Amino acid sequence: MIESSDLRIARIPLNHGAGHMPVLGFGTLIPDSAATISATRDALEAGFRHFDCAERYRNEREVGEALEAGLAAGGIAREDIFVTTKLWNTNHRPERVEPAFEASRNRLRLSYLDLYLIHTPFAFQPGDEQDPRDQNGKVIYDRGVTLLDTWRAMESLVDHGRCRAIGLSDITLDGLLPIYESARIRPAVIQVEAHPYLPETELLEFCKKKDIVFLAGAPLGHGIKPGVLEDPIILAIAARIGKTPAQVLLAWAVQRGTATLSKTRTAARARENFNISALPEDAFDEINRIQTRQRFNEVVKTGSPGFIPQGR
Ligand SMILES: NC(=O)c1ccc[n+]([C@@H]2O[C@H](COP(=O)([O-])OP(=O)(O)OC[C@H]3O[C@@H](n4cnc5c(N)ncnc54)[C@H](OP(=O)(O)O)[C@@H]3O)[C@@H](O)[C@H]2O)c1
Repeated sequence: MIESSDLRIARIPLNHGAGHMPVLGFGTLIPDSAATISATRDALEAGFRHFDCAERYRNEREVGEALEAGLAAGGIAREDIFVTTKLWNTNHRPERVEPAFEASRNRLRLSYLDLYLIHTPFAFQPGDEQDPRDQNGKVIYDRGVTLLDTWRAMESLVDHGRCRAIGLSDITLDGLLPIYESARIRPAVIQVEAHPYLPETELLEFCKKKDIVFLAGAPLGHGIKPGVLEDPIILAIAARIGKTPAQVLLAWAVQRGTATLSKTRTAARARENFNISALPEDAFDEINRIQTRQRFNEVVKTGSPGFIPQGR
């Protein structure tokens, strides 16, 4: 149940009493260091209080620096923001989980994390190379660890008070079910690609029934064109209600009961993406009837990330 009718400040409770997640999150998948710092600062100034990070984005240091400065400058308390980061595929072995978590937490300059996610359900060869490949360029997977082994190590982070909640990202319903059934601490959040072309309705219904927050990544379809930002129905609704296509997409995501992430490098778009309001019911229904289906990122099938430059 989403708290508050003002979508900009709405929050959604996490299971196990692990606090509340602001439904509008800012994604930090930004390849450039200077742009990461300015974008994080601008997002905080625009009003975002939820930041999504990852070890794999290789910019936790910059996000941490910007958050520390932004909180001090804005008189914002740590408890007023919600910060997530993610365990990368090369750290799935249980003995690697806590060191990876601690390294991320230190880079982010935080004493605790609100949420820690397993970035993808695919374990890669353990080590410092984030994208291990064989001579033929094929990913080297790690067959010596199961997702449940990794989940058990994530549970101990919660036991020891290192993070408030844990979850999974880039997971399918088939992948989620066995973890959900065997977990001692059930996933609080799943983060998956979702937008009108990939509504993931079955997964969303499961999450609603089981009290798991569904966090929609790529609500703007990664900005890929042609894509959801240029869909004729979205454009028509935006023109009709005097909002931008991005605002329509983000409002739709929240109104259907998901939390959502968006990312931009520009301050004006950060303000635009934060300044959303509820869609009229007919517009919401019209978006639900869009028939186009498209997944923009295949990471869910392979564990290999899309949209991350290699070898930085
Ligand atoms: N778990 C995963 O594997 C995974 C995968 C992908 C993403 N994510 C998370 O989800 C976050 C969001 O995903 P994303 O960044 O790929 O997708 P997105 O937010 O759907 O799209 C971002 C793109 O849209 C553009 N954009 C942003 N606001 C706009 C606006 N108001 N009007 C028009 N274009 C706009 C941005 O360009 P400008 O920067 O030029 O504004 C950028 O190119 C990521 O940062 C990350 O935290 C997670």
